[in-house]
Amino acid sequence: MARIPIIAGNWKMHKSLGESRKFVRALLPLVQDFASVERVVAPSFLALTAVADALRGSPLKVAAQDGHWEASGAYTSQVSVAMLAPYVQYVIIGHSERRAYLNETDANVNRKAKAILAQGRAPIIAVGESLEQNEAGETVSFVRAQVQAALDGISAADMANVVIAYEPIWAIGTGRSASGADADAIIKAAIRDTVAALYNSEVSDALRIQYGGSVKPGNMQEFMSQPNIDGALVGGASLAVADFAALIEIAARVKG
Ligand code: PGA
Repeated sequence: MARIPIIAGNWKMHKSLGESRKFVRALLPLVQDFASVERVVAPSFLALTAVADALRGSPLKVAAQDGHWEASGAYTSQVSVAMLAPYVQYVIIGHSERRAYLNETDANVNRKAKAILAQGRAPIIAVGESLEQNEAGETVSFVRAQVQAALDGISAADMANVVIAYEPIWAIGTGRSASGADADAIIKAAIRDTVAALYNSEVSDALRIQYGGSVKPGNMQEFMSQPNIDGALVGGASLAVADFAALIEIAARVKG
């Protein structure tokens, strides 16, 4: 089955409010035409509503970089998925930086995924192994366990709205990416086959899986040429208009 490729730019803690507005104004005309690819930007919370307002009615979609599962409450600093829902189509959860520095656990990723789906929005669930796990040959078992935990209690029907991003931690922001073929093999074994076992082959065949970790224009074609990779979650290269537009153009050419 044809899966619509999805390229998401995760801006992390980059770009002021003004820079965010300026960026999407410059990006939009360059990526208007690639309708075969879903195009997503994930600004900081500060810039989220301004970017969403600027992009309303455009083909560029907006993601939040996190969202709390409770609708409201005494959770200082947090923004709930319910609050985000009018502004975003996607919420990134489980990013390795949040797992490493901000106490993102598998259980919380699962709570967030359910809250996002309950709001009719789509989680981008990030998973991936550390360098130590990779070198110890634990990649597939570790990533499989992350996927199982994230999807616990999520229905087959809701899986149509789930995106999973495979991001080997050792490849994030390091300039060191996995090879396309290696990433594809891990994605197949640890994610697509796991989802087939948890649900069925239709759910697994329809699931969109991104690769992330030092994706840039120079290696995008290699990733997009892989049968199990349906797009990219991009950090560094999503911060420059020309690079991000180039990634979208390559995805449209290879996958669209
Ligand atoms: P990177 O980040 O593209 O800068 O490696 C990817 C990510 O963390 O999503």
